Amino acid sequence: MALLPIITAPDPRLKKVCAPVEAVDDEVRQLMADMLETMYAAPGIGLAAPQVGVLKRVIVVDISGDEEPEAPLCMANPELVEVSDDDATYEEGCLSLPEYYGEVARPAAIRVRFLDRENEIREIEAEGLLATCIQHEMDHLDGILFVDHLTALKRNMILRKLLKAKKSNTPLASYATV
Ligand code: NI
Repeated sequence: MALLPIITAPDPRLKKVCAPVEAVDDEVRQLMADMLETMYAAPGIGLAAPQVGVLKRVIVVDISGDEEPEAPLCMANPELVEVSDDDATYEEGCLSLPEYYGEVARPAAIRVRFLDRENEIREIEAEGLLATCIQHEMDHLDGILFVDHLTALKRNMILRKLLKAKKSNTPLASYATV
């Protein structure tokens, strides 16, 4: 297991469409384990492979929080097979956009198909925070950040501030320590 450095925006690697994995083999399982460790340490409730510089369609999610036992979900090649007509709005944040938040509306309930850690095809239904989190992480696999759902004005304001912080080498609280 290893903690991986988390990439922060703006960065071209966060804007790429990621490639599907051929199969969940030992290498992908190791990536999932490292991503989970990195996510818990950040701390965060979801992480996508491009956020650690790996342009593969792999995400990890755990919305259980501190009070509940860990409930990690690891997904390769996730796809939405059903979405509800009604939307839910959550204030979203992202480990790649530290310290910024914005309200994003997404389908309130989803059905997602993916390859699990054993390379088995699985489908789960999700709603509420879990549905939002899975969709947020899936967006990353297509180079989409939550700020891309905001107005251009708000998005540019956030990205400009992050770029400035990067240039001045200001340490950001959400950087994973490696
Ligand atoms: Ni994110």
